[in-house]
Amino acid sequence: MIRYDIRPDGVAVLLWDLEGQAANVLTGDSIERYGELARRAIADPAVRGVVVASAKKDFLAGADLTKILPGDMDRDTYEKRILGFHRIYRDIETSGKPFVAALNGSTLGGGYELALACHYRIAADNPSARFGLPEVTLALLPGGGGTQRLPRLIGIDKALPLILSGKVLKVAEALDHGMLDAIASADQLLETACRKALELAAGDVVQPWDRSDAAPQVKDNAAFEKAAEDMRARTRGLQTAPERALASVREGMAIPFDDGIAIETRNFVDCCFDPQSSNTIRTSFFAVRAARKLASRPDGVPTRQFSRIGVLGAGMMGAGIAQIAAAAGIEVVLLDTTMEQAEKGRDGIHARLERRARGDRAALDKAEGLLARIEPTDDFDRLANVDLVVEAVFENRAVKADVTRRAVARMKPGTVFASNTSTLPITGLAEASSQPDLFIGMHFFSPVDRMALVEIIMGEQTSDTALAHALDFLKAVRKTPIAVRDGRGFYTSRVFATYIYEALEMLEEGVAPHLIEEGGLLTGLPMGPLALSDQLSIALAYKVQCQERADLGDAFRETAAYRVCRLMVDELGRKGRSDGAGYYDYSANGDKSLWPGLAGQFEPLADQPAPAELAERFLMLQSIETLRCLEEGVLLRPIDGDVGAVLGWGYPAFRGGPVAYVDTLGQAAFLARCEHYAARYGERYAPPENLRRMAANGERFYSAADPSRF
Ligand code: NAI
Repeated sequence: MIRYDIRPDGVAVLLWDLEGQAANVLTGDSIERYGELARRAIADPAVRGVVVASAKKDFLAGADLTKILPGDMDRDTYEKRILGFHRIYRDIETSGKPFVAALNGSTLGGGYELALACHYRIAADNPSARFGLPEVTLALLPGGGGTQRLPRLIGIDKALPLILSGKVLKVAEALDHGMLDAIASADQLLETACRKALELAAGDVVQPWDRSDAAPQVKDNAAFEKAAEDMRARTRGLQTAPERALASVREGMAIPFDDGIAIETRNFVDCCFDPQSSNTIRTSFFAVRAARKLASRPDGVPTRQFSRIGVLGAGMMGAGIAQIAAAAGIEVVLLDTTMEQAEKGRDGIHARLERRARGDRAALDKAEGLLARIEPTDDFDRLANVDLVVEAVFENRAVKADVTRRAVARMKPGTVFASNTSTLPITGLAEASSQPDLFIGMHFFSPVDRMALVEIIMGEQTSDTALAHALDFLKAVRKTPIAVRDGRGFYTSRVFATYIYEALEMLEEGVAPHLIEEGGLLTGLPMGPLALSDQLSIALAYKVQCQERADLGDAFRETAAYRVCRLMVDELGRKGRSDGAGYYDYSANGDKSLWPGLAGQFEPLADQPAPAELAERFLMLQSIETLRCLEEGVLLRPIDGDVGAVLGWGYPAFRGGPVAYVDTLGQAAFLARCEHYAARYGERYAPPENLRRMAANGERFYSAADPSRF
């Protein structure tokens, strides 16, 4: 509902208060209702001015993302609909009556565009409020006039970087940028806005863009070029939404305002019909939210509270886990082999927090409080009273078995024991516990305090209780979980490894190393596979494969990855970045360049492939391995694969994840590409059965129309 009141002074207040919703959002219905009420106010001679306000915590959170995409609508109908909304805003702007937006809280996306279509913007002095146009972060562009009004209001130099990055500003910054006209205290906001409306009513009420056709010049504008360049450096030209936003501004500024709106609308509709938007909105918005709300938590297990946990191993991961638990108000017993080691772990946290506080008193006090909750110890008896134990000792079966036995013997019955192993199958590790049903994998990513994802791994005997408690803990420490079944490499390491392993196959094929790196970057992943492999350590990858060889015995198949790692580590002594030499050379100042000797280790291909083809191979293999994880039941739901990829190894959100990539290509087309590559490169490209089935039945994984369904 939008309430409509006329005050005795002749100001009509349109108060947004949509029922049944936590926040005001724009939908076709709510915009039309707003238009009706605005036209009523415009037509009423008793109304001198209008104030648009909100009864919720925020002003307007933006468009309702469940409804923003066209769904079954065809392009023309959809475009006409959007132009209809613009008509409403234009009627308001050109009515001659002042509309003042009273922004009590966050005003984002379509909400900020609605405010731009008012004549004046006053915001409450609210420290948690944010203002701006974050549309590109969801692979859309500001399609409510934002690409036309903002540059005309505050200039291209300020507007374009915001539009292209989706950055949102706090109230003081927004005022500074000219995105707001004034700030008032929260309790005075409405009164101030009404007074302003009356004041404006006394003069000419015209928007800057309706005064003349003069718009900021794009041609020879250094700020424009700089913003475009920064955007391409960030997106490598792979993301369509910021490109379309840029085109809307470039073309729109050279023509009259209403023609600019038509251009923006066409570009916006293009974004809506582009799979990049549905892929991004599904995975980065709806699926991540559902994961945080524990969509995969088993029913019937009472919620578990955590006031005290134990962390075994105070190394890099253990200290990180202790830190995030303590930050969430949980007490932590941080155990290592000696008191000295345990204290070293806590001191490391201290140093990190101090560095980050940069002298800020409040942050330092907070750090002290956090550290006070961490108790370093070498005594397993201290685990008698904890609600959960997370193990993060060396990645070694015997060491892990030893600490598991000692910890479980002291823990209260019913307490879950979680291992942060990155490679060892959970079912095997659980054998060391007298309570294998309460044993679970909880795979954090490094750095723990920065990485949102945690992969939960269920062993063969893991119970619903263990899963539910693990999920409850991750909610308490504000992480985003996916739950998978046990298997070598679980889900994330298994699929991510294909990116690096395929690069090593390419090296053996004789592909030039720089083309491999270029191909990797064209996928949209943050780093090339060789640079990444250096960073993660070639020696470690080799060790993992040697372990696999030992475990599998005769069943082990020697791959190019194994041979290349052996060559690099055993023969060439180039173990990766921390050793100063790997696929790259590293100079003292941190620069790196591909090792010139690398290409010479392999017989070069006469015909070098295009980087785009290499990119396709990387993407296809990640998808194929993900489909296999689905088929084998390692993944329980397709969406977990996509969330895990985007949050776990930086798979580009605009592609939606390795499952969404199959949908985007289409199952039949994807199958044909598999067969093509399988004929050239062998088994690893062999199409999984589930893909064949889906292609034959014309099925897809996700709804193309509604990104909130998965
Ligand atoms: P780390 O070497 O930094 O820390 C291990 C800590 O465990 C050391 O402080 C060591 O003194 C302690 N420790 C060893 N034996 C112990 C025992 N018997 N009792 C108590 N403490 C003992 O290793 P990091 O990197 O923290 O890894 C720990 C675990 O986390 C490993 O299982 C690793 O595979 C896993 N992991 C590592 C990731 C990474 O990026 N480094 C990512 C995800 C998981």
